Amino acid sequence: MPNVKVIYPGTFDPLTNGHLDLIARGAKIVDELVVAILRNSDKGEPLFTVAERLEMISAEIQGYKNVSVTTFDGLLVDFARAQGAKAVLRGIRALTDYEYEFPMAMMNRKLDPNLETLFMMPTEQYTYVSSRLIKGVFKLGGDVTELVPPLVMERMKKKGQRKI
Ligand code: PNS
Repeated sequence: MPNVKVIYPGTFDPLTNGHLDLIARGAKIVDELVVAILRNSDKGEPLFTVAERLEMISAEIQGYKNVSVTTFDGLLVDFARAQGAKAVLRGIRALTDYEYEFPMAMMNRKLDPNLETLFMMPTEQYTYVSSRLIKGVFKLGGDVTELVPPLVMERMKKKGQRKI
């Protein structure tokens, strides 16, 4: 049987329980899952540095034998090819995610017809959770404790609400 390696790319700023849920689901169906943090994101000033995100994700995936984390920049298809990955995993929560994901998946297919995109849905509990929303709510003093891993919550508190 061939080894099925899949990349789970994203910004992960910060890692949420929705991301962790997707990692758990992905890890069950592929041989190797590589969480890949985009280094050259154009999403503006990040909350956590790439190194901090890498460290937090590393800690959270300790329990998985077939999950690793790394960083990448440039085109996702180039990174996936260099890794020998067959597919990219992306989480899809609502219809609006589809509108964002569809052109990316099609563009990636155009760039590399051999690379597939797999979509998985997180548990209903986290269908509304996004890194952007987490940061926005936390900044305004809202409680997001149940939506991110305890380690991420602790680090967010250390950063302080004003910085976000
Ligand atoms: O978590 P995000 O920010 O929604 O993830 C977006 C990501 C990292 C998957 C996407 O921006 C990406 O793949 N960037 C790498 C550059 C690239 O390959 N662009 C062409 C894809 S359309």
